[in-house]
Amino acid sequence: MQQEIAKIFESYLTKKSTIFRLKEALSPKFLPDKILHRDEQINALAHILAPSLKREKPSNVFVYGKSGTGKTLVILHVCRELEKFSGENSVKVLYVNCKMRKVADTEYRLIAFLCRALGKPVPATGLPTYEIYKEFFDLLDKEGKIFILVLDEIDRLVKKSGDEVLYNLTRINSELQNSSVSIVGISNDVTFKLKLDPRIRSSLGEEEIIFPPYDAFQLKDILSERAKLAFFEDKVNEGVIEKCAAYAAREHGDARRALELLRLAGEIAERMGSPMVMEEHVDLANEKMERETLIEVVKKQTLHAKLIIHCLINEMYRNQRIYSGDLYDIYCKVCRQLSIRPLTQRRVSDFLNEFDILGIISNKTISRGRYGRTREIVLTIPEDLAREVEKMLKAEFGI
Ligand SMILES: Nc1ncnc2c1ncn2[C@@H]1O[C@H](COP(=O)(O)OP(=O)(O)OP(=O)(O)O)[C@@H](O)[C@H]1O
Ligand SMILES: [Mg+2]
Repeated sequence: MQQEIAKIFESYLTKKSTIFRLKEALSPKFLPDKILHRDEQINALAHILAPSLKREKPSNVFVYGKSGTGKTLVILHVCRELEKFSGENSVKVLYVNCKMRKVADTEYRLIAFLCRALGKPVPATGLPTYEIYKEFFDLLDKEGKIFILVLDEIDRLVKKSGDEVLYNLTRINSELQNSSVSIVGISNDVTFKLKLDPRIRSSLGEEEIIFPPYDAFQLKDILSERAKLAFFEDKVNEGVIEKCAAYAAREHGDARRALELLRLAGEIAERMGSPMVMEEHVDLANEKMERETLIEVVKKQTLHAKLIIHCLINEMYRNQRIYSGDLYDIYCKVCRQLSIRPLTQRRVSDFLNEFDILGIISNKTISRGRYGRTREIVLTIPEDLAREVEKMLKAEFGI
């Protein structure tokens, strides 16, 4: 038995891929040499940050655009070029991804992280907040530089630790004599800015750069560049790139998703023993990704949303069409069984609208003559996937 496993590992190590030349070129961590279709954003950011080269403080910038539109890539690229150009190290970039755990969970942790980035090992907890700030100010001022503080996924920071920290950071310059700090805030939550305190909003959004979604043509260019690195010549059938681009364009023009789709299609082709990647491998890859996305979406729902999905799936087994009134009765019954107080019919109705947008169901309002109007619901996910979701939900509810 052990020998069998060893053989599998051995053959994995020795077997060379006949399709992939450099699979990492499709990974989200890969930094491409060429950034396509983002000249406008690159130029805008370069103009905004250029004063730092003359030791003047650049404006704060707020960058937003949906997921996978190249925000992190472009900002890191321009910052790297800026640091390189500034030569004698008069400009320094501090980059934080606020999504990372234990880095931006609290105001203290963030400032402690920044102190460590400036070379001072401060304790991860314990000091009073004002003291850690003082430490941070001293470190900044000692260096005598123009700092660019990039807060990527800044909405996560505010969600976890409130907006006080942003207020403090935007006020930092009044405490500094030899240095200055400009903030580049990045977010894929378009509504984030509106939720901020107006004082922070105006200070953070002195300048704004928007990253629109890529269209299918732009995605095709981005994918073609990467495919040249990732695959051996003639291993990708003609329509493959186009198909990946079309699928991803439908999903709000997300380049990350397009690259992932291409990688997955390549892996499926390889596993199936195909000599090259074909369109049908992209279809299989897309199906797999959609399943995984849906499961993730359901996992993140609130308890009541999950209960409603559970009822929807169960009803679907009995009837192809579900009426909103019947669904509500079933939902109330399940709530009683679990000793949970049900939401109002109106709230349940709001959830149904959301599920329609997420592509879980499709809703249609129909008239029932003198019985008024009702909604007819059809579950749009395939049955085997519904069963998978149901299994997960049942385990969670213990039913
Ligand atoms: N214009 C482009 N040219 C080449 N590659 C790109 C381009 N735009 C995005 N990519 C690639 O797509 C992936 C996603 O880009 P990036 O991480 O910059 O997105 P993002 O806008 O920061 O998304 P999120 O909001 O989810 O963080 C990365 O692998 C990146 O290399
Ligand atoms: Mg990003």
